[in-house]
Amino acid sequence: MMGTDEDSPADPGKCIITRRKPEEIKEELQAVYEEAYSRYPQYAERGDRCVESYFNRLERMRPEGFLVATVDDEVMGFAVEDLNWKMFDSEPVGEVMELVVSPRARGHGLGKKLLRLLINILNKHGRKKIGLEVGGNNKEAIKLYQNHGFEYFDDDGTWICMVLDSEKVDTFYQVETPVYEFSHSKKQHER
Ligand SMILES: CC(C)(COP(=O)(O)OP(=O)(O)OC[C@H]1O[C@@H](n2cnc3c(N)ncnc32)[C@H](O)[C@@H]1OP(=O)(O)O)[C@@H](O)C(=O)NCCC(=O)NCCS
Repeated sequence: MMGTDEDSPADPGKCIITRRKPEEIKEELQAVYEEAYSRYPQYAERGDRCVESYFNRLERMRPEGFLVATVDDEVMGFAVEDLNWKMFDSEPVGEVMELVVSPRARGHGLGKKLLRLLINILNKHGRKKIGLEVGGNNKEAIKLYQNHGFEYFDDDGTWICMVLDSEKVDTFYQVETPVYEFSHSKKQHER
């Protein structure tokens, strides 16, 4: 059985990442989204109606589905990309629209795995630049993005816009297999 809170983390085991239509597992996705942002509620949609309309927007962006990570059929995280975020110098830019990992599954490399899959997908669609917006105090996510070559581009005081120029870095990761094993040792980060 999986744990139910941050004190009883997910057992390391087989984590499967597949494309799933959000309507099939809508409630689970929304529950993981809400628990994932419990530390930074200011950067998430709040209230059932806002969360639902946000998910409807994500679904319109990716009608073919989200990348969903499950362990024993339980949703542990998901990621959503957008092929057409903005145009820089008349070049279409991809976007990391959403990336969440349940607090029960953190520190095992799942966030990294989902991000690398999104980067690969966007690269395969010819997006040399990939952008995202991240809350200015969201240090875990900022570190994850910086470690993958995303650089500060702009901010509005609340949100930081970061951009990855894939021509500057080697962004093709070896993450082809949909079945992914959690690393058995959980990384400890300074809090
Ligand atoms: C950001 C998030 C997706 C990371 O998920 P995760 O599965 O724990 O991440 P990983 O185990 O793959 O770690 C990836 C990197 O994130 C950073 N990181 C993760 N936890 C961290 C922590 N507590 N402190 C500092 N950096 C941390 C590190 O750079 C780490 O790489 P490293 O282990 O090589 O140092 C997760 O914390 C989350 O869902 N946060 C809430 C939602 C969110 O903020 N999403 C981003 C939207 S822009």
